[in-house]
Amino acid sequence: MHQRVRKAVFPVAGLGTRFLPATKSIPKEMLTVVDKPLIQHAVEEAREAGIEQFIFVTGRMKTAMEDHFDLSYELEATLAERGKTKELEQLRAALPPAGNVCYVRQQRPLGLGHAVWCARHLVGDEPFAVMLPDDLVLAKTGCMKQMVDVHAETGGNVVGVVDVPREHTRRYGILDVADDDGRLATVRGLVEKPAPEDAPSTLSIIGRYILEPAIFKHISEIGRGAGGEIQLTDAMVRLIGGDRPFHGLRFAGRRYDCGDKLGWLEANIAFALAREDIAEPLRRILAEYR
Ligand code: G1P
Repeated sequence: MHQRVRKAVFPVAGLGTRFLPATKSIPKEMLTVVDKPLIQHAVEEAREAGIEQFIFVTGRMKTAMEDHFDLSYELEATLAERGKTKELEQLRAALPPAGNVCYVRQQRPLGLGHAVWCARHLVGDEPFAVMLPDDLVLAKTGCMKQMVDVHAETGGNVVGVVDVPREHTRRYGILDVADDDGRLATVRGLVEKPAPEDAPSTLSIIGRYILEPAIFKHISEIGRGAGGEIQLTDAMVRLIGGDRPFHGLRFAGRRYDCGDKLGWLEANIAFALAREDIAEPLRRILAEYR
């Protein structure tokens, strides 16, 4: 039996400059896909995977997220008074259990590796998930649940991966693959944002990770990498080849890169079309834009 994944780290300190002016005074993680903020989509995916503790690595200007995962007493009282039981139930169902969300600040934007490292004392000595809310996955079974199930069998480290066109390798962490059964790839190496001609494959990491706690020591030892940032990918390289396996899972489902305007717009359409209450009227509206 491998140790169960109970904790998830959500690095949410980024400035969201690609979404200005929308993100001038609200965090990009509060942008909605249909009617839920990105961060709530991520937390719900984590809960479906059995995650019990939610660790947010935040920064200045991010307090809207803390309010979002707190009880809104006035709102609930008003909804109750007006008999809006459906909305009330929705709010209550989305509220994580008391004491299970914690926040730590990344004081400086030093990179994803550094953001994860800021959570080291809250994670402690156990395997944990990292979830980037920018990456949204539409799937029958949540992406993290699929990864946790693989982890229960294999242990070690698991990252969610998708094949990308070779000209896009510069945007992602890319796998060097030792072995591949079409679903699970055994990882031999990783490169952060390689040029297409240098990429060892076209299998790219999405913002879903299950990592051994040894990652924290590795992060503290690596220097700055691609883009002058402390890269999680560079620290993960040091987890490969030890006594624990390292796998990439081609999950079932579709990823939307909501860090990008077009990806976010597409996610809104895809998630709305997956909703019984909106799909049909939306199809009619979309038909007008052909
Ligand atoms: C980060 C990681 C990269 C990964 C990507 C997934 O990059 O550094 O390895 O492929 O997330 O979204 P970022 O999107 O922060 O540039």
